[in-house]
Amino acid sequence: MKRLVIGRGNVYADLLIIGEAPGAEEDLEGKPYVGKSGKLLNNLLREVGIDNKKDVYFCNVIKCRPPNNRKPTTKEINIHKPWLLQQIKLVDPKYIVLTGSTAMKAILEVKDSISNLRGEWIEKDGREIMVIFHPSYLLRFPSKEINKPYQLTLKDLENVSSKLYAL
Ligand code: URA
Repeated sequence: MKRLVIGRGNVYADLLIIGEAPGAEEDLEGKPYVGKSGKLLNNLLREVGIDNKKDVYFCNVIKCRPPNNRKPTTKEINIHKPWLLQQIKLVDPKYIVLTGSTAMKAILEVKDSISNLRGEWIEKDGREIMVIFHPSYLLRFPSKEINKPYQLTLKDLENVSSKLYAL
């Protein structure tokens, strides 16, 4: 671990996308979602017409890279959470997309499976929140067949895009 990775994008955006933790690339560049998963996420956003420079702010639950890219522990999530909550307050987004189970656990405090919760709008503290599959999951299961994670995520992000640009 070299540095803190706080966020990237437009701090005034209506859409906040929250990931898990920085990986090796993110640690090097000091920005979230710039490695393989980030590139896939950017492509998906482009495909549904979301401008990832102008209309999104990206951050992670965990602000520094866990050793060997392991999943953050509950203790680590709890230690980093006050910073995440402060960051949400400052960005003040209308919509939040939680990518994967760590972000889901940190913000929604549920242990549900992603497959059960993804794609639904959940209201919390005056914001609309959607859980989607983590892009690293799509890298592991890259099938583009209908009803597989990739297409489902595209559908979820289309839903996000229509809300975001209907303002
Ligand atoms: N890069 C990030 O910044 N966050 C993730 O969750 C995965 C990759």
